[in-house]
Amino acid sequence: MADHGSADTGNAVEIIATDPGPRSAAVVPTDRPQNPGFPPERKRVADLDPAKEKQQERRVVAWFVVGIIGAVGAVAAYVAFPLDTRGSIDPSETRIVTLLIGLGIALGLFGIGFGAVHWAKSLMHGHDLVEMRHPTRGSEETRAKAVAVFTAGNEESGFSRRKAIVGTLIGALVAFPLPGIVLFRGLAPKEDANDVLRHTMWKKGTRLTRDPSGTPIKASEVTLGSAFHVIPEGLNDSEHKLEEKAKAAVLLMRLKPEDLHVSKGKENWSYDGIVAYSKICTHVGCPVALYEQQTHHLLCPCHQSQFDITREAEVIFGPAKRPLPQLPIYVDDEGYLRARSDFHEPVGPSFWEREH
Ligand code: FES
Repeated sequence: MADHGSADTGNAVEIIATDPGPRSAAVVPTDRPQNPGFPPERKRVADLDPAKEKQQERRVVAWFVVGIIGAVGAVAAYVAFPLDTRGSIDPSETRIVTLLIGLGIALGLFGIGFGAVHWAKSLMHGHDLVEMRHPTRGSEETRAKAVAVFTAGNEESGFSRRKAIVGTLIGALVAFPLPGIVLFRGLAPKEDANDVLRHTMWKKGTRLTRDPSGTPIKASEVTLGSAFHVIPEGLNDSEHKLEEKAKAAVLLMRLKPEDLHVSKGKENWSYDGIVAYSKICTHVGCPVALYEQQTHHLLCPCHQSQFDITREAEVIFGPAKRPLPQLPIYVDDEGYLRARSDFHEPVGPSFWEREH
């Protein structure tokens, strides 16, 4: 049984009797607003005139072509104006290259964006669509409708029909990531990174010289307890001075020969208590420059790793995982200290292809 209240009040009360059990009530609005619907679709020029439609299509193609030109232009600017990152960098040159690459990437993005928006606005149908709420799991009928919508969308947008637009869109999307790929590839070293990191300027016969003057060091100048900051002879004339120094910097110290614990095969790596070790910390590469003369410990100021010089620079404290590499040295006929060879293992922190 249903009992309706007065319609003047605006709302009616519907009484629903259930049998058996208590009566329940629900408020049913009687003054629902009418759905105004959509205004009638206004046809655009491209809908009415095939010539205009063709014109709009050409504009979309033009935007996608602009996108391709932008992306290719960014790559071309990067390749055409290489920056010498190892030598002195001219800031104005860097600014111009960066500007050109940025403009190319921006053009690539804008071309795709404007092309897509123009395509939607001028060529795809402009009528409004309403999607009614429905349960999350669609019925077979709904699924069939979805397929129909996609098919209609494909028809209306001309995705399968307008080959030139689709082709240039795909071209623009494929071209757009190219600047990113080229720029990131450019960050990698040109030579084999493994070789670059494994070898330093030291080689057989290179004289040990003072840092930074480059003055050769005689063994007689290295007194007991002293420490020298050392670079290889010729470093100051090197084309890539800073990169070479970052790998070849050495600390030279003299201890009493009897204090040194020398392992087999390294007996001739030192001279009368004079030893040379890489200054590059094996943790993350800070310069290990604090020498404690009494204890013969080297301290890295970055994370407090400590190395014992009397025991071939083994780690006695801190996060470093391996000893500082030793530079084998000897003294020539004139009394100057020279390297016997390069380091026998890579200096500095671990890197991806290191075996030691
Ligand atoms: S870099 Fe030397 S302890 Fe971390």
